[in-house]
Amino acid sequence: MLTGKTAIITGANRGIGLATVEAFAKQGAVVWACVRTQSEEFEQKMKEISSEYATTITPVYFDVTKESEAKEAVKMIGGYSKGIDILVNNAGISVERLFSMTSIETIGNTMEVNFLSQVRLAQLVSRLMVRNRTGSIINIASVSGIESEQGSIAYGSSKAAVIFSTKTMAVELGKYGIRVNSVSPGFIDTDMWKNRDNDVSDRIMTRTPLGRKGTAQEVANVILFLASDMASYMTGQNLVVDGGRLGWGY
Ligand code: NAI
Repeated sequence: MLTGKTAIITGANRGIGLATVEAFAKQGAVVWACVRTQSEEFEQKMKEISSEYATTITPVYFDVTKESEAKEAVKMIGGYSKGIDILVNNAGISVERLFSMTSIETIGNTMEVNFLSQVRLAQLVSRLMVRNRTGSIINIASVSGIESEQGSIAYGSSKAAVIFSTKTMAVELGKYGIRVNSVSPGFIDTDMWKNRDNDVSDRIMTRTPLGRKGTAQEVANVILFLASDMASYMTGQNLVVDGGRLGWGY
């Protein structure tokens, strides 16, 4: 599905990002796997995946919130690649805290990581995509950006901004052949919510028709679809991957 395509994926060392690296490599993509911190374990994992699927995966290290690091990384990737076909803006942090207990600084930091960093990277990478008049950008949002829950002032607002900005980018970049979509996972079994209160987990599960958490692979499959030419007439959409939770009503 992705033979001959080059992809940039952030937050590639675990969870949904790692599953996306694997899914893309399996489909023949060349992957620039972006993480914040260098580690032997990560580099070894990337070598294993690239040799299993006979493709090239190159680790890249930068903090998505640091403008100069992000610019440098994209410049480096652009210098080595004929073009970038896919950007998966996946890196993110979770915050679950009541509105009255959440500092403005925490909200600002969450917006910086989850929203502004995605916009910055999309700006930098879309400039490379424009040259070839083709590209697919997938921004990872969340069901928390659609329906409000207790404690979602910081996280939910940042993800709502992701969903909205995705539509704006799609409107403006369509004429260059660049598609921009978002994916909104529900409760997915990754490190992100491993310390979540059991009460909250149970409440979400009772409102999830499929009755279980999703896996990172199940989200990666949807990202793969949007990245591929199978979704060639889709842009400005937000695909919900939540086991039916949104349809249940909050
Ligand atoms: P995770 O916590 O396993 O992975 C998050 C990744 O983002 C990690 O690789 C982390 O190092 C990276 N990251 C965080 N801040 C960074 C920074 N400043 N610079 C560079 N990298 C940074 O979580 P998961 O579940 O894989 O999350 C991936 C995306 O999916 C996130 O955007 C998250 O908000 C979203 N999501 C996850 C859900 C879930 O239930 N797990 C539900 C809805 C959305």
